[in-house]
Formats: sequence, structure tokens, C-alpha cells
Amino acid sequence: MADFVVTPWEVRGSVDYDELVRQFGTQRLDGGLAERLARTAGESHFMLRRNVFFSHRDLPQFLDAVERGRKVALYTGRGPSGSTHLGHLMPWVFTKYLQDAFGCELYFQMTDDEKYLFKENLTREETLAYARENALDLAALGFKPDKTKIIIDTQAIKRLYPLALDVAKKTTLSTARAIFGFDNSTNIGSVFFTSVQSAPALLPSVLEREKTGKKNAVVPVLIPCAIDQDPHFRLTRDVSDKLGYPKPALVHTRFLPSLRGGEKMSASDAESSIYTTDTPEDAERKVMRAFTGGRATVEEQRRLGGDPEVCSVCNYLKMFFEPDDAKLAERLRAYRAGEILDGENKQYLAGKVTAFLKEHQRKREQARKTIDKFFWEG
Ligand code: TYM
Repeated sequence: MADFVVTPWEVRGSVDYDELVRQFGTQRLDGGLAERLARTAGESHFMLRRNVFFSHRDLPQFLDAVERGRKVALYTGRGPSGSTHLGHLMPWVFTKYLQDAFGCELYFQMTDDEKYLFKENLTREETLAYARENALDLAALGFKPDKTKIIIDTQAIKRLYPLALDVAKKTTLSTARAIFGFDNSTNIGSVFFTSVQSAPALLPSVLEREKTGKKNAVVPVLIPCAIDQDPHFRLTRDVSDKLGYPKPALVHTRFLPSLRGGEKMSASDAESSIYTTDTPEDAERKVMRAFTGGRATVEEQRRLGGDPEVCSVCNYLKMFFEPDDAKLAERLRAYRAGEILDGENKQYLAGKVTAFLKEHQRKREQARKTIDKFFWEG
């Protein structure tokens, strides 16, 4: 038995990504396929080169469609239960790279309904307010309203509902229980919810059919997300065929780890995550207290070197903040050799994080003026 758990609502223990690929039945995204994606996109991305995006479903089929010049779409999302943290930004940064490369539309779902159903302590008004707030982060990353539809579930449900019904009708309670582990105490909204998360994967084909009048038009969809969301789309893929839509393809990222050394930043432990709304001072303080791969004493670290594999500071640089491969390799070498100690490494990361936050927060505030243009109401 694996000693970790990954579901859309919980990540616990030390995640073994190879084991997860086996458990979930996905494919590894490495070697030739990673290179093919970079070639098709016209340039590489550091998250691809470093195997941060490490797993996929049907990516080759999606790339076939792109290479043949067919219309394609991207789909990703956010469950608005609080402020956005840096882990959430990872799939969005990668999505931006893909959107720029393929010139296609992005459907971005804000599941305010999900967070209301799954979180005891949140009201509908609160999750809706977070949806609007979190949307600012998307705009700050440079997405443009003419190619990005943000779908807030409770606001756009009229367009999602028929599709969610189609998915729900083809999904049995026993399938939902097997995939998500629901039990008799689960509220029935939570059981239905997964069909709402399926809907945007089918929506681009529906809109294309409406626009062209072609009953069988299909638009292949690629979903970038962390691996925790995969169970939803396993279900989507099972039913989409039966409903006459293409199976959505997926690319999965690893989790940006907790600053405290755990597997995934946790929204319930504010010190383990950096939020896009943190002041630069707070973010710096969190980085300076981070869990590292250092030794008990300076003398030991100089003699034996640090371990970048377990070091959250090194992992933040690798997964997010140091896109330059040569600089990263040199820093990790020096850390391993004991030439760079934790204090300096943390200071280096803190500089990058605070610079990022200042710029992101400036763009985030600017976006308040234009954000309404992103919201899609059908
Ligand atoms: P949510 O809000 O939990 O997460 C938003 C996105 O961030 C990913 N993620 C992470 N990625 C890297 N490191 C982490 N530490 C980390 N934590 C979370 C998630 O996988 C997700 O991609 N139900 C979804 C919202 C949703 C969605 C979608 C997500 C609706 N449709 C389609 C992806 C694709 C949710 O609650 O995400």
C-alpha cells in the first residue's frame, strides 16, 4: 500500500510520482514527447525541460490536431476558497505558454459551487467573491480577455447545466464513489459536482457546433493541471466518447511543495504557502524560515554539502523562480558541494519572490479595471 493520498480535495504523505502514474493509469511526459511538445509550440519551457510537467493523457493526439492546423482549446481552473498561492499559478503559467504558442482560446472555470459544497465554513457569497478576486491573478499573468473565458459556475451555470446533466446521466453513483471515495455522509451536491467540472471540457465543441451549424464539429481540448485534478477528468474521458465529444487530453504538473517541507502547499497552513496577496515582507519572512536540505551546523554543511532534492528553497527555484537552466545547475552544484549555505540560498530566493510579488500585485491592481471583460456568461 502506498503511504500517500492524492485526491482533488486532499494531498497527504510523501507523493511517489512514479507510483501515481501507475495508480492513475496516466503516461509519463518525458524524452521524445516533451521534445515534440516544445517543437510544436515553437519553443521549450523550463517546466517541461525539468519534468515538472511529468505526466499526460493523450497528448500526442492533441499535438496531431495542432500540427494539422485544427482548431483546439485549453481548459483549466481554480476552486476559489481563499487567496491564490504560488502552487496554483504553476499550471496557469504553463497554460499561458501553451496559449501563446497555439493561439487558441482558454476556458477557465471558477468552481465557486465546489468550494461552497466542500467547505463547511464558506458561504456562497464568499466563494463568489474569491472567484472574482482569484480572476485578478489570471489577468496579472498576462492572459487577454479576447482569448480567455472565465466561467464562474454559479454565474454561467445556464450554459454548463445541460452538459453537466449529460455527464451526470452517464455516471453511476458507484463510479463516483470508486473514483472519489464518497460515502453516505457526503452531501449530494458534492456527488453531482464532478459533472459540472466536466462541462467546460465539452463546451468548445458545443460552441463550435452552434457557430458553424455543423452537428458533429469537435474541438480537441487540452487540460493543464496538477495531478490531483486527474480523477475528475478520468470520469470526463469515460463519458465524452458516449456523448459524441473527443476525450480531453491532459498534462499534469507535480506539486510545488510546502515551504515547511511537506509535499504540497496547503491552504490551511498559511506559513507553508506564499500567497499572491502576501506583502513582500511576509513572503520574505516565510522564505527565511523555510525547510532546507541543509545540515545541523555550518561547518557540517561546508564539509558535506546540502541536499537539493529535499530542500524547499532549491525546489522553488527549480520549479518556479529560476527559469535559466545554466544558473540553476550552477546553484544546485554549489549547494551540493557546500559552497552555498542555506542563509544565502534563502536570501537569493527571497529576492526573486519579492520582485515577482511586487510586479504581480501591481498588475493585479491594474486588472481590477478590466476584469469584467473576462467573465463569460454564456
Ligand atoms: P484548485 O483551486 O485546488 O487548484 C487550482 C490549480 O492549481 C493546481 N494546484 C497546484 N499546482 C502545483 N502545486 C500545488 N501545490 C498546487 N495546488 C493546486 C490544481 O491542480 C489546479 O490545476 N476543482 C479545481 C478547479 C478546476 C480545475 C478545472 C482545475 C475546475 N476545472 C480544470 C484544473 C483544470 C480546484 O479546486 O483547483
